[in-house]
Amino acid sequence: MARTNKKRARPKTRVLYVTSEAFPLIKTGGLADVSHALPNALAQLRIDVRLLLPAYRVVLQQFDSLRILGWLDLGAMGQVRILEGDHPDYRMPVWLVDQSTLFDREGNPYTDSNGRDWPDNPLRFAAFCRAASLLGVDALGLNWRPHVVHAHDWQAGLTHAFLEQEIDPPRRVYTIHNLAYDCQFDYAQFQALQLPPHWWSMERAEFYGRFSMMKAGLMFSDAITTVSPTYAREICTPEYGYGYASILEHRRERLQGILNGIDTAVWDPAGDEHLVAHYSRGKGVAKAKQSNRAEMLRLMGYEVDEAVLSRPLIGFVGRLVFQKGVDLLVEAMPRLMQNTDACFALVGTGEPGLEQRLRELASAHHGRVFIHLGYSERLSHLLEAGVDIFAMPSRYEPCGLNQMYSLRYGTPPVVRNTGGLADTVIDANPATLESGTANGFVFENSTPEALAMALRRALQAWAEPGLWQQLMENGMGVDFAWNRSAREYVQCYRAAPEY
Ligand code: ADP
Ligand code: GLC
Repeated sequence: MARTNKKRARPKTRVLYVTSEAFPLIKTGGLADVSHALPNALAQLRIDVRLLLPAYRVVLQQFDSLRILGWLDLGAMGQVRILEGDHPDYRMPVWLVDQSTLFDREGNPYTDSNGRDWPDNPLRFAAFCRAASLLGVDALGLNWRPHVVHAHDWQAGLTHAFLEQEIDPPRRVYTIHNLAYDCQFDYAQFQALQLPPHWWSMERAEFYGRFSMMKAGLMFSDAITTVSPTYAREICTPEYGYGYASILEHRRERLQGILNGIDTAVWDPAGDEHLVAHYSRGKGVAKAKQSNRAEMLRLMGYEVDEAVLSRPLIGFVGRLVFQKGVDLLVEAMPRLMQNTDACFALVGTGEPGLEQRLRELASAHHGRVFIHLGYSERLSHLLEAGVDIFAMPSRYEPCGLNQMYSLRYGTPPVVRNTGGLADTVIDANPATLESGTANGFVFENSTPEALAMALRRALQAWAEPGLWQQLMENGMGVDFAWNRSAREYVQCYRAAPEY
């Protein structure tokens, strides 16, 4: 018999990636950044991906043309249309679940203009998940049946519950980006959606007398991942587990932490389209920072004077919520401004009380506190590049992307020792400076005092140019590209016996 050296090519693994946001189509936070970079990194590893999103109005507006793949009947939840489009930012077809009464509306995908959850969120996302599960078994007969359905956060949590009802379902992978956010509803709503009665039980998705979409994701998955190894450990403890600790501890053998990467094409100080001056490790950092700072302040509506260009500027970008510890920063700022030269620049939107405190600080400390209370992709890039120190005092942080952006932009971060912050930032101390790994400042307690002390340490280091240079260069040299993490997801996809 003739022998052949030809290896049989393994058929491409097909993955249906189910998410409620994806940059630049729709973004409220880091999930969108991940859902842009990870599918693209997977496609580069020869994974055959389809990205599935709700057809929000703003998403529909970003496609030149869309093809109709078919209609799905969702029973009590009505009918949806599945659309397919190509987008220059994606290496794979994007699929949209289209139902105008559910998704074709203005504003935030989860909340109305007053920041309240859309009252029909249970229906909106149950319908999205039912459609995802049907696509997961190729109910439209497209001749594309995924080996894996990868669902993200509560918005996609019911997908795997629906899939369990199918014969020979694909492997179900569920990623937790933030355990604290959920959609929970009562028994009347559960009945109205006509969900299978046995799901309303402690072993399934009933959660303290309500139905939890997050719990459905946790209970019906073959594998659970979350976005950093430290957060994977933390959520098995009552302090960080949001009531799910014992469930997760029980399913620990299925739970794995895979650290997020960053999109090094979008977040690159050498080519970032939002910057006015580019730079790279060891090349032109100080001068470029000044130009970017001036542009940032100008865009925020401030006069730019010499003082603010030469003083140390501490920055923050993010959602103004309890998670991010913005209240700690607000408390620490006045004291720091009394004792040091520090100035502050903050870009964010969120809780009205925190926004108000920031307005007050900005008017009381004219020329020292600069704020933009809104969402601005451009300002977030300019800030990473234009400030000296990045503050991220999160109470918990599943992964956090901003600290990785700031490391890459030569802006050493000051972070609390939690979640992905603990996995990416290495505190500057004699040992880590000696080994060349120090890249920022880490503190333990969620108090304004602990934060202020860490910021003071950063300010002292900033005043020593040689030391600061070393810290910046260490951070800029860390490789956070998605490649490594994407390989870990591929391993997780293939962990099932049939691959
Ligand atoms: P989270 O997902 O918890 O909000 P991450 O650090 O993972 O935190 O990601 C937040 C993302 O959202 C980053 O890309 C950050 O730059 C962006 N972001 C948050 N708030 C704003 C804002 N007000 N303007 C622009 N970008 C923002
Ligand atoms: C969540 C988390 C954040 C993480 C992001 C992407 O929004 O709060 O820490 O970086 O998801 O995984």
